[in-house]
Formats: sequence, C-alpha cells, structure tokens
Amino acid sequence: MQLQDIVQTYEKDLAIVESFLQKEQDSYVKLIPEISNHIIMSGGKRIRPLLLMIASDLFGYRGEGRYPLAAVIEFIHTASLLHDDVIDHASIRRGKTSANRLWGNAASVLVGDYLYATAYKLLTESNNQTVQRLVAWATTTMVEGETIQLVKSGDVNITEEEYLAITEKKTAVLMAAACALGAVLAEAPESSVDLMTRFGMKLGITFQVTDDTLDYVGLEEEFGKTIGMDIMEGKMTLPLIWSLRQGPPSEGEGIKKIVAAKTADDGEVKEIVDFIKTYGGIDYALGRAGQFVEEAKAIIAPFPESFPKNALLALPDHILNRNL
Ligand code: IPE
Ligand code: IPE
Ligand code: MG
Ligand code: MG
Repeated sequence: MQLQDIVQTYEKDLAIVESFLQKEQDSYVKLIPEISNHIIMSGGKRIRPLLLMIASDLFGYRGEGRYPLAAVIEFIHTASLLHDDVIDHASIRRGKTSANRLWGNAASVLVGDYLYATAYKLLTESNNQTVQRLVAWATTTMVEGETIQLVKSGDVNITEEEYLAITEKKTAVLMAAACALGAVLAEAPESSVDLMTRFGMKLGITFQVTDDTLDYVGLEEEFGKTIGMDIMEGKMTLPLIWSLRQGPPSEGEGIKKIVAAKTADDGEVKEIVDFIKTYGGIDYALGRAGQFVEEAKAIIAPFPESFPKNALLALPDHILNRNL
C-alpha cells in the first residue's frame, strides 16, 4: 500500500487535527503564536496523529475523541522539537531556519513549555485515566531519553544497546503512545493496547535509526535538517558505533577524537562519513532497522484483514525507505 493512499484516507481527520493545533496554540502574548506558528506551519509529517487515526480505526473507533488527543501528541512532539533544537544547537528544522536561530534559546524554551502545557490543558478534556497515564508516560520517558543522551554526549564508547535504549525512550515511546491511544479510545482489551504499544515501539526505533542514517547520507533539501549534525554535536549513532567496531583501531582512534571534540568542520564530517561508508555502517544500521520493521509487521499480522491493518503493515517499510 502506498503512503499516499494511507494519508488520503485520513486526510479529513488530519485536517481536523490541524484546526485543533491552530486554535489551541494561540495566546494574547503575540510572541507565543508567532513562534509556535512558525514551527507548526513549517510542514511536519504528522506521523504521530496519523498513527493514532489508523490505530483507532483498526479497533473500530471513529469518534470525536481522536482529534484533541492527536493534537495533544503533536503538541508534545512539537514542544520536544523546540527544546531539542536548543539542546542540539540546530539551525534548520523542517527546511526552515529553526526557532532558536530566529528568536533565541530563551524564547524557544518558553514556547516549548507553552506547547507542553497546552497539550496537558487539552488532555484534561479526556476523563480517561489510561489515556492520561499513557501521555504522561510518553512525555516523562522522552525527557529521560534526551537526558541520558545528554549525559552520554561525547562518550565515544557508547554501545549499540545503550544507543537503542536512548532511541526507544527519546523517540519510540511517543509513537507507541499514539498507537496505544487508538486502542484505548476504542476500549479494546488491554492485550490489544499492549500489542499497539509494542508495534509503536518497533516503528519508533525504525524511525530514529533511519533518521540517524539520513543525518549522514540524506540530502538537506529533502531531510529539512543539517546533514552531519550528530557528529558536530558529539552524538554517536548506530552507523558510527558499528563502523568503529569494524574498522582498524588505528583509524578509529582519530575518528573518536574528532567526535569527542564536538568541533568537527565540513572536512572532518566528510572524513567520518567516508569512514562509515567504508566499514558498512549505513548498511548495517538500515539492516538493523529492517529487522525492527519485520518485528513490527509480525505484531500486526494476526489481526483480521482490514484497511487499517494493511496501512499499519505498510507504514514500517515507508519509514525505513524514507528520505525526509
Ligand atoms: C523528528 O521527528 C524528530 C525525531 C524523532 C527524529 P519527525 O521526523 O516526525 O518530525 P516532523 O514532525 O516530521 O518534522
Ligand atoms: C529528536 O532527536 C528526539 C526528540 C525530539 C525527543 P534528534 O535530535 O535525534 O532529532 P533531530 O535530528 O533533531 O530531528
Ligand atoms: Mg536534534
Ligand atoms: Mg537531539
């Protein structure tokens, strides 16, 4: 199934989510909507709201409760991006100059706070404690993931297991929550909520591992973010972790020094990208992501035939093969 078919099917639903995003981020303090509009209107992929729509559909729920909740998830995602770009000293987000570059760190942090708070305000419209717990779990876990990553920043000896644990926390949990919430809204049994959580985790890991390969080999115009950013920030991701294990230590030592210094210039970034390509780091990471794709699909396989089931079966491959 093509991604286009999936998106088209839920187009009307996603448009309603957009109206929630628009309406709820407003404030009489004009700097707030100025910045939040900048990021919200810059064309994010809206993957998390889409996941929530498909997951609800899978269990037969098509009620109004999906819209504010999908907006809650997208607000949390957007807030995390505003904060993440401050943490990562990013210059480009969604193909545009990032908010931290345009308005500074202080304003970005505050508007990120506003969007988190807005998400929680909107969440109070749901009286379902399971819904509230899932959202709180995702938000706290994401911050734990970002914090572990911060503590490990510049640590060139990080293992694949540590990397995957960070990935699960900082990225996969929010996708897992989006999927699980669909099942919760449909009042599906707990076992189904668990399955959707597990599916979202696998999908989320695939998503971040793919993202980390694109950081090396993507095209800035498509990816909408600066290429080579992770190296400049001293962030070890799977392609490099693997290549350092494969390459000769003599060569690896030089690479580690560059990453640990967190001051890599264009020439050094290219040197590291070449090193990764020589020792198969990209292929390895994408292969590993491919395993998570298969694990994700296996979780969905037992469900009875339906459009949302086929959409969930198709999505992991689209995420693996994406270039934006
Ligand atoms: C970016 O997420 C942050 C990561 C988890 C890598 P997305 O790639 O979903 O961001 P947008 O919303 O489409 O810009
Ligand atoms: C984004 O992580 C994850 C969160 C925002 C929690 P990254 O820092 O790896 O993603 P990009 O490359 O900035 O989107
Ligand atoms: Mg970042
Ligand atoms: Mg980051």
